[in-house]
Amino acid sequence: MNVYQKIIKEERRIYALAPMEDITDSVFRQILCDIGKPDIFFTEFMSTDGYMSKGRENVMHRLEFKDVERPVVVQLWGNTPENYAGTVKEVVKLSPDGIDINIGCSVKNVLRSGHCSALIKEPKLVKDIIKAVKSESGDIPVSVKTRIGYDSIITNEWFSFLLEQNLDLITVHGRISKDGYNIPANWEEIGKVVELRDVVSPTTVILGNGDVFDLDIADEYISKYGVDGVMIGRGVVKNPWLFSRRTDISEKERLEVLKKHLGLFKDTWEGVKSYDSQKKYVKMYISGFEGASELRQSLMECKEVEIALEILG
Ligand SMILES: Cc1cc2nc3c(=O)[nH]c(=O)nc-3n(C[C@H](O)[C@H](O)[C@H](O)COP(=O)(O)O)c2cc1C
Repeated sequence: MNVYQKIIKEERRIYALAPMEDITDSVFRQILCDIGKPDIFFTEFMSTDGYMSKGRENVMHRLEFKDVERPVVVQLWGNTPENYAGTVKEVVKLSPDGIDINIGCSVKNVLRSGHCSALIKEPKLVKDIIKAVKSESGDIPVSVKTRIGYDSIITNEWFSFLLEQNLDLITVHGRISKDGYNIPANWEEIGKVVELRDVVSPTTVILGNGDVFDLDIADEYISKYGVDGVMIGRGVVKNPWLFSRRTDISEKERLEVLKKHLGLFKDTWEGVKSYDSQKKYVKMYISGFEGASELRQSLMECKEVEIALEILG
């Protein structure tokens, strides 16, 4: 039984952390383990083309995780079945709890090169990619994260096809590729995917994704649209404590969490990532108390993590 089926057998709802490039790295995930752990983590997406090139060293840090972060699903992107197969052959050695294929990202340069959500227009290639991943994934469940269409909504056609590919899980982001965040996620369409699933592939687990900013909304959507769970991204950026349902986070706790985060950052990423890359976390943790904005300001002006830690100390 795979990790998704296990949670469902326990009659639990799945609350998953969305993959977010440059945010949901191993350090942030370890912090979430302390302050509000989701049922499943997804890594940032990693390029299979990059991994299979001489530049492997530059991309493989995205796959790093510690045991405490389990269950953790690694997310891959690319559009060459051979590179997926080659990558997955290595990735299985890390024994991730799942392997996810990104058919959802809609950043302009990935679309221009026919990657991620541009693949919605290429079902034949998608079929080959899924086949290539499965040829090397062994017992590790395989999933897809995608949208409800590329330039128009094609829920019926696209998900009927995907559901025939024997996937363990599909995450449905309720927007088409050209939609920005100013257009609300279309949960009615996500509900239609659940109806299709019940007919075409009852064992495929469905996560809904888009505009969920707390677990009460997650619960409401799970009940209303029948999804097995919800994947949450920006809600966790706004409130890293989201998965704990707590609202009473003290100033002391916020400072302690940032200190721990920066300490882990130093141990994990020194020489790989700059302190600048950590400033987004300063914004996440340091808010909602008197003096927060002044403290944030001085931490934003720092150039080195050691100085930031001195200020916090
Ligand atoms: C900064 C940022 C980075 C993201 N990186 C990824 C990624 O690496 N892989 C992916 O599938 N989606 C990525 N996404 C999309 C999210 O996983 C999620 O689908 C999207 O934010 C909608 O969910 P939300 O409304 O809960 O934020 C990213 C989103 C943001 C805001």
